Amino acid sequence: MQAEDIELVLDAEQRIYAFPWTRGNFEDSLASGYTARLMRDGNQLVGYAVMMLILDEAHLLNISIVSGRQQAGLGSLLLESMCEEARSLGAQRMVLEVRQSNVAGRAFYDRHGFAQIGVRTDYYPAEQGRESALVLEKIL
Ligand SMILES: CC(C)(COP(=O)(O)OP(=O)(O)OC[C@H]1O[C@@H](n2cnc3c(N)ncnc32)[C@H](O)[C@@H]1OP(=O)(O)O)[C@@H](O)C(=O)NCCC(=O)NCCS
Repeated sequence: MQAEDIELVLDAEQRIYAFPWTRGNFEDSLASGYTARLMRDGNQLVGYAVMMLILDEAHLLNISIVSGRQQAGLGSLLLESMCEEARSLGAQRMVLEVRQSNVAGRAFYDRHGFAQIGVRTDYYPAEQGRESALVLEKIL
């Protein structure tokens, strides 16, 4: 992902999430040198992911498949490639947060061998108040 891709990514992000990342979140990620990848089918954006590496830990900050292309195996391909890249950069584990109410996301990570290691109470904004995040980990 480059600065010129942010417009397109932001448009997808806003269609996918009730509480989307802002333009600033993507700009800051690129400015910080996080690993930010696009997944394309031809010249069409179908997904993207952002990952931060700290020593031997990779933190997956965002992984998204565009609306209309979900549940067709693309997220699995993208996640596997992020795990592979993290491993090649020296990470030994991958950590992420997922909304407690995100049933599909939780099933997705479960399927990929992530296990819960904690809870961050009231981590996310929600329709009514706040919502907790489950902290998941996968040993790479
Ligand atoms: C979560 C997400 C990245 C998964 O990518 P995807 O391409 O839709 O998922 P895949 O087709 O690779 O699914 C792999 C497995 O995940 C699980 N899964 C995925 N979507 C699911 C859903 N809607 N309901 C239940 N399980 C689901 C299933 O176990 C599935 O395996 P199966 O197809 O053999 O049943 C994608 O659906 C997405 O972007 N969702 C919205 C944003 C989001 O929630 N991101 C994660 C936030 S932490």
